[in-house]
Amino acid sequence: MSKREPRGSIFSQKLDRVALTAYFLGAVVPLIALGFMLERFVLPTVPDRIVSLGLIGLVLSIGLLSLASFFALRRTTRTSLAQMDADNDRLASLLDAAGALASVEFAEDAPGTSTRAVMGLTPSQAAFALLRGHAGETPRRVAASGRDAEKIEQKLVEPILELTQLVMSSGRLALRGKSNGQPAMAAAPFPGEAAPVGALIAIADADVDEFSASESGALVTLAGLGAVAHHNATLREEQRNFFTHVTDMLVTALDAHLGYQTGHGTRVAQFANKVGRQMGLDDDRMERLHFSSLLHDIGMLKLQRHQQMNPRTAPKHTMIGGRMLDRILLWKELAPIVLHHHEWWDGSGYPEGVAGATIPLESRIIGLCDAFDAMTSSSSYQDAEPFEHAVNEIRAAAGTQFDPDVVAAFEALVREGSICESDIS
Ligand SMILES: [Fe+2]
Repeated sequence: MSKREPRGSIFSQKLDRVALTAYFLGAVVPLIALGFMLERFVLPTVPDRIVSLGLIGLVLSIGLLSLASFFALRRTTRTSLAQMDADNDRLASLLDAAGALASVEFAEDAPGTSTRAVMGLTPSQAAFALLRGHAGETPRRVAASGRDAEKIEQKLVEPILELTQLVMSSGRLALRGKSNGQPAMAAAPFPGEAAPVGALIAIADADVDEFSASESGALVTLAGLGAVAHHNATLREEQRNFFTHVTDMLVTALDAHLGYQTGHGTRVAQFANKVGRQMGLDDDRMERLHFSSLLHDIGMLKLQRHQQMNPRTAPKHTMIGGRMLDRILLWKELAPIVLHHHEWWDGSGYPEGVAGATIPLESRIIGLCDAFDAMTSSSSYQDAEPFEHAVNEIRAAAGTQFDPDVVAAFEALVREGSICESDIS
């Protein structure tokens, strides 16, 4: 984030012009009129020259006094407006920083985003973020910004640590003025669940004696936003980690339950990921595609071996799987994908017989990859088909069983060798 150029707002420029016009109409014009009346009607009737000079002097004094008052008022107004503009700029930068922190994806990026924001919001030569690992641990520097941040840190290592420990124990902003050749410093606590978990530190530019109230207020706000961003990103990482491991466990359990087709879910996910990328799916859809590919047959867990083989009962695994996922709030979006993974492009699939683009794209991709893996894998009840033969069957079913666009993406991957014979079991 770069420091903003100071600028006079359109509002303050307009106010300045209005004040000038008001002064001209309210003071200058009446004074000219008064001078004219004096010269034309009053002075000719005054016989004494000294009295005449006194009257002229009085009018000139009023004029000068009014001019001096105007300039004094204008100076005060300009200073206030400049301060207001600076505060507005700081607020706009703070909003930019809040946006940047809100979009932090990984917890480790939050401190660095905070220190960069400090450089944009305060007159600082460097900014540091210090965090402790667990309660009682000495905080360590996790991010630094500023051209000479490393040199500055070496020089100020002790005051930085002192300030950090001070704000962590008090939970409040700590300020140090410029003294003994050391620059002014400010430290704000990174709030934690029970107590502060670290500090965000600003080292002022050499010509700054101390940080202003609005600058140190911005530092406190940034530390708060940084802590929230860090906490949210940590939660997301824990959530991702949880889902990855739970999915692994479910896939393993499903493999053991099915018995006849080990590794099917994992292979379908590998093919589906390649097809999804080829079709330009964004990261969110790719994540949904990945997890729903792994779990597409999860409904089989509730079917006995004889039910899995029975053409009357086996199709139920789509609805059972959809319901299982629909009950888990964070997997709700996977439910319709799993429900429809056996639908056909021409509408002759199951469970609902929907057709074309009504079938979720992720389901159409999984449907093709599922069929390809079933054809190319050997199981206890069938021999694997040769790779080329399976590719031909996929091609032949474009427009009937499979979405022609998905088939085209699959074929492109086969042509370029991204899906090849070594991928099949
Ligand atoms: Fe299935």
